[in-house]
Amino acid sequence: MNTNLEIINTISKLKKEKDAIILAHNYQINEVQDIADYVGDSLELSIRASEIKNKVIVFCGVRFMAETAKILNPSKTVLIPDKSAGCPMANMITAKDVIELRKAHPGAIVVCYVNSTAEVKANVDICCTSANAVKIVSSLPADKEIIFIPDKYLGSYVSSQTKRNLILWHGYCPTHVLINTNTILQIKKEHPDAEVLVHPECTPEVINIADKVLSTGGMLKYVHESQSNEFIIGTEIGIIYRLQKQNPKKMFYPAQKNTICPNMKLINLEKIMWSLEDNIYEINLSNEIIKKARASLEKMKEYV
Ligand code: 13P
Ligand code: SF4
Repeated sequence: MNTNLEIINTISKLKKEKDAIILAHNYQINEVQDIADYVGDSLELSIRASEIKNKVIVFCGVRFMAETAKILNPSKTVLIPDKSAGCPMANMITAKDVIELRKAHPGAIVVCYVNSTAEVKANVDICCTSANAVKIVSSLPADKEIIFIPDKYLGSYVSSQTKRNLILWHGYCPTHVLINTNTILQIKKEHPDAEVLVHPECTPEVINIADKVLSTGGMLKYVHESQSNEFIIGTEIGIIYRLQKQNPKKMFYPAQKNTICPNMKLINLEKIMWSLEDNIYEINLSNEIIKKARASLEKMKEYV
């Protein structure tokens, strides 16, 4: 059995041999975050992926993120170390559903959360992440109907911030719906000075009692700049490792201890090593899907 150190050494040797770079999402397990060349939220990772010069990108996240990297930088080999690392929300809407929505609302602009499949992205007008959804929707012409897919909670948050009436789909994140107001209010009683930061995938009730609603990258930036010393974190708990690492003197309390995305936890050091050894699992998309989906992702990148 290899020790972690041996695996880490093998990974760095393979990275050089194959000209590879490792990207990881903020929810990845600690060891994966530690060996990654770049850790970030969906928007940061999309932008970074589009600029990569290396031949191979090992994407430690879920499938839609690796697909996004492939679409934005199609000449690269993009690998995901566990092929079953999917996002249940992304599978809550199909390309056929989008085509039907368009038929029901002719002329509407379709805004699509990046947590969606490549086929869905190929049928929308513009993509967004939780970091720029409000900005993107605010920029759209006032006389147009807007369809927002697939996350109904991010959609209702964006609607409340932009005062735009959005046509929503019924998708949601099974991990973020675990976060509830009772637990947050209980922690707040024990730590009255703690600021409540939540992800916009949370339910409207949770969002209503939060001090700030932020993407994972937004939380890292906010905590770093804030004068507060205590925070209740309403998102997948993997981010707490990075928050703590960057702010060793501050205290972080998970809004709900079991807020774990099982898909995000599938990747580990051994799987990264095997991925580099055997070029697995490669993201393959048709040229047509890449071309169509790229247009909506390129627009998304303009709103930083
Ligand atoms: P971020 O873009 O905020 O990192 O969110 C990604 C995600 O999947 C949240 O569940
Ligand atoms: Fe998808 Fe939710 Fe996991 Fe994010 S936390 S990847 S939205 S299932």
